Amino acid sequence: MDSYRQIFENNKKWVQSKLASDEHFFEKLARDQKPHFLYIGCSDSRVPANVIMGLDEGEVFVHRNIANLVVGTDSNINAVIQYAVEFLEVKHIIVCGHYGCGGVKAALHPSDMGQLNSWLQTLRDVYRIHQDELDKMDDPKQKFDRLVELNVIEQCVNIAKIDHVQRKWNATGFPQVHAWVYDLHNGLLKELDIKLAEYFSSIRSIYDLKIPED
Ligand code: CO
Repeated sequence: MDSYRQIFENNKKWVQSKLASDEHFFEKLARDQKPHFLYIGCSDSRVPANVIMGLDEGEVFVHRNIANLVVGTDSNINAVIQYAVEFLEVKHIIVCGHYGCGGVKAALHPSDMGQLNSWLQTLRDVYRIHQDELDKMDDPKQKFDRLVELNVIEQCVNIAKIDHVQRKWNATGFPQVHAWVYDLHNGLLKELDIKLAEYFSSIRSIYDLKIPED
């Protein structure tokens, strides 16, 4: 059987295994979703959101794109974040990058990637913002790994710029924003210590939208 047809066999087995442990599994799942987490990660096939977090169906709202970017003019991610914050009322937004990210790697070197050029521009902007720190690194792997981390942090900052997020913060203090990096070599998640509130307060005069409380 080819790998495409195999998927439907896998699906049937998955349904059977779910029903075997709880015959009402799909009935309950179909009623509603109330996930506490919004996960924004890379599209990389090796970084499956639910699996690496050990979360079940219904427990995490997921958005993935190349190199886990939060671009202010991207109506796709803006819709995801607004829905997660205003309607699902998630308590945590996670931006998860991963070491060895092909998108980040491409942004470290001059290369014409066609359609991808404008997307990777955001990563090159992250490089520019942190060029002093990055260009001091002689070890290419250290530099690559650090740009992966800095990219996650900058995307967290981009979340802090969004009106829906600021409105919810002013009203409830949530969602908390977290910066994670996943290591393909050992499967472990690492939480970066970003002190987003402190960092954001230092740039508040530029990005605070002065949204009044409801
Ligand atoms: Co990636």
